[in-house]
Amino acid sequence: MKAQHGRMAAFRSGMRTLREEIGKGSAKTAAEHVSLLLRAMDGYENDVPHKNASRIGEYRRLYAELGRSARKLELVLQANDLKRANAAYGKVLQICAACHRKFRD
Ligand code: HEC
Repeated sequence: MKAQHGRMAAFRSGMRTLREEIGKGSAKTAAEHVSLLLRAMDGYENDVPHKNASRIGEYRRLYAELGRSARKLELVLQANDLKRANAAYGKVLQICAACHRKFRD
């Protein structure tokens, strides 16, 4: 449970930095921050939500989806495609929100 809170804190600061770096047009730095965000996912398989705990399969699928969308964002940034980076960032954020809607109390 402690790991899960640490993960969420890393997600929050990671997403904030990403938004700033994308805003500044620093695709390279932003891509590095996506790597950190992906690294913060390590061990998510052991996380369990407090709310709707029986829907653990769905919970893990949302984590997997988060990983996929973050990797897409990383690719877009590595290609220095800032226009698509905004949409890809939005997609990652949507998955944060989707999981919170269902599983955060
Ligand atoms: C698979 C589900 C899931 C995903 C995806 C997810 N979260 Fe969370 N998040 C939770 C749950 C559940 C909580 C409630 C606290 C808990 O149970 O640990 C939470 C809590 C938080 C908190 C409050 C601090 C805390 O630990 O309670 C922040 C900030 C947060 N999430 C940020 C994010 C961000 C940013 C993203 C996307 C990059 C994200 N989360 C993606 C499930 C998720």
